[in-house]
Amino acid sequence: MFDHPDFDAHEKVLFVNDAATGLRAIIAVHSTALGAAAGGCRLWSYAADADALTDALRLSRGMSYKNAMADLPMGGGKSVILGPVASEKREAVLEAFGRAVDTLSGQYITAEDVGVSVADMQIVARTTKHVSGLSAAAGKSGGDPSPFTARGVRVGIESAVRARLGRTELAGLSVAVQGLGHVGMYLCQELNEMGANLIVADINPARVSEAQMRFGAVGVSVDDILTQPVDVVAPCALGGTITEYVARYIRASVVAGAANNQLLTAEAGRILGERGVLYAPDYVINAGGIIMVQGEISGDNDADLIRARVDAIGPRLDAIFATAKSDNVITNEVADSMARVKLDAARRMRARIAA
Ligand code: NAI
Repeated sequence: MFDHPDFDAHEKVLFVNDAATGLRAIIAVHSTALGAAAGGCRLWSYAADADALTDALRLSRGMSYKNAMADLPMGGGKSVILGPVASEKREAVLEAFGRAVDTLSGQYITAEDVGVSVADMQIVARTTKHVSGLSAAAGKSGGDPSPFTARGVRVGIESAVRARLGRTELAGLSVAVQGLGHVGMYLCQELNEMGANLIVADINPARVSEAQMRFGAVGVSVDDILTQPVDVVAPCALGGTITEYVARYIRASVVAGAANNQLLTAEAGRILGERGVLYAPDYVINAGGIIMVQGEISGDNDADLIRARVDAIGPRLDAIFATAKSDNVITNEVADSMARVKLDAARRMRARIAA
């Protein structure tokens, strides 16, 4: 465990095996230095149990970095329930999962994620109170964070084109948007209002037609969207779409989008850097949604205040791009080290207070 390549001084990793219900789960608390470890619960049928551990370790660290870089008073955690879960057992499994979360006494706050719905989280909430308002807010049924995520991505694209192309506005620039879901469509709206020209793709043709009608976007095949001859590529579909192969053939100057874990491998990031393609680290540029959600949880949710916090993504990226340039380091490594500095400072401060 401690030698696992994705183990990053996680504070706690809980392996849960509940014989009565068949629940098998892993809860990873990466850091509580900035606050309770917040992060969703994923229910997934992994090819191997080891993949579930990798997912929990990586995703929980990602949450710590994302929250730290957004200056939110929350730590990072994540849980995975190993599927499949038979439908007649689902309720009992979710209740058992809630009991496991409860043993951490609030160190970890769960929410829904891939494979888990708001209704599922309501079942989890029967056995623990450590289920956050994230469940409603991050889901599609409550306050939708996607417009805030899209706003942050638009602000981030503005920062990236300033840094890479010396352009102060988006009018006349071309942007290829991969994925026209909750975030992608709002992003198209924002970019269209700024006068950008849109090239789009989605596996769902109805979404493409909608973008064509509303924004005069040009639809292209999902296989070609990332290698269009455009100024900016905005991955807003699933993670891992920037493979090493794609990184070699991207023709845009900037990659800046909403998807989590856009780079399939660290090498893909290095290839982008070598080729002079400026990459906006995903967990920095896509923090608009979590900023909105945290505002809802804390009750500090005045719309203008939230928008101002989301707009701070721009200066944050400006600083990352400037450091990457001056130190000749790739942007995602700069963001990782900035996040680690913030977490270490918070950890030291907590230790001093405890002493
Ligand atoms: P969504 O599920 O609403 O939209 C995803 C869209 O991508 C769908 O329209 C789907 O048809 C399309 N798609 C899937 N595979 C594709 C492919 N190969 N090529 C082109 N299109 C494809 O998801 P949502 O909420 O818009 O999120 C998009 C990404 O942003 C995800 O990676 C998500 O994790 C990330 N994200 C979302 C946030 C939010 O506020 N919704 C916050 C932070 C990150």
